[in-house]
Amino acid sequence: MTAADDTTAPYDSARTTKLAVVGAGAVGTTLAYAALARGTARTVALMDVNREKVDAEVLDLQHGQMFVPQADIIGSDDVAVCEGADVVVVTAGAKQRPGQSRLDLAESTVGLTRTIMPGLVRVAPDAIFLMVTNPVDVVTYAAQRFSGLPRERVLGSGTVLDTSRLREAIARHAGVAVGNVHAYIAGEHGDSEIALWSSASIGGVPLRDWTGLAGRPALGEELRSRIAADVVQSAYRIIEGKGATNYAIGLAGTRIIEAVLKDEHRVLPVSSYLDDYYGIADVCLSVPTLVDRHGATEAIEVPLSDGELRDLRASAERVRAIQRRFGL
Ligand code: 2OP
Repeated sequence: MTAADDTTAPYDSARTTKLAVVGAGAVGTTLAYAALARGTARTVALMDVNREKVDAEVLDLQHGQMFVPQADIIGSDDVAVCEGADVVVVTAGAKQRPGQSRLDLAESTVGLTRTIMPGLVRVAPDAIFLMVTNPVDVVTYAAQRFSGLPRERVLGSGTVLDTSRLREAIARHAGVAVGNVHAYIAGEHGDSEIALWSSASIGGVPLRDWTGLAGRPALGEELRSRIAADVVQSAYRIIEGKGATNYAIGLAGTRIIEAVLKDEHRVLPVSSYLDDYYGIADVCLSVPTLVDRHGATEAIEVPLSDGELRDLRASAERVRAIQRRFGL
């Protein structure tokens, strides 16, 4: 009898996937919850320096196990809990306060990245690392440096969330399902990000040719500017109202992790190291990128209007200036 025939045989962990989430704050726990609900990985490990908090979060998640795809949930304040992970997601870091920009957090989060990356790489040397901590582009660049890993194995959540915000707004105005909208936010995950309107489409119709469904507006320049501004402002509005953003970033992070674990070859605007992307180099920034089991494997050169290229270069310069400030 083979192990496959024996239903009492212990589960073969060698054939399973493990996701480690570093940071049991609002983002880390929501991401773990989303990953469990979606059956993203067979084992979800939660790590946080606050033992009491991580233990409580793990218990709460474990108590939902009856309602989600089979998974083991473990947690600790010891980095060893991340051992052998296929994907390590880093959400730990300073909280953005109302009125603060993401870039204002760089001072503390770059230092934290320097401290935690070597230990994580030691216990999970084959993992793909997904950085979520803000300012995510600078943190991703720092994590690449401090991990010593090949650049494609360390990526940032970048503007995947902002892209979802953009698509939701376009879909709502156009009166179509979000899945029928193709449009990306590129650049910094932050105030200088850019909506790539020139390559956007709805149901296969280039957005510039979209005349609007019956009773719905066309997406003219004024409405487009308003939507883009709302996307940039939305995190500030949420932080004002409830102190942090967590649900959408939890889902966005989970989506990226699935693209890695399932080797999906999915195009996502993750933050990755750019080396001569329309002349932009030596910076981590979001552009539509192929994500598969090797990480962020290839930045895709989407056509850009002159204005989009100008704004993308300015966004890169802004992120690079912060990198320089921290000696990266
Ligand atoms: C967000 O965009 C604050 O970066 C976080 O929701």
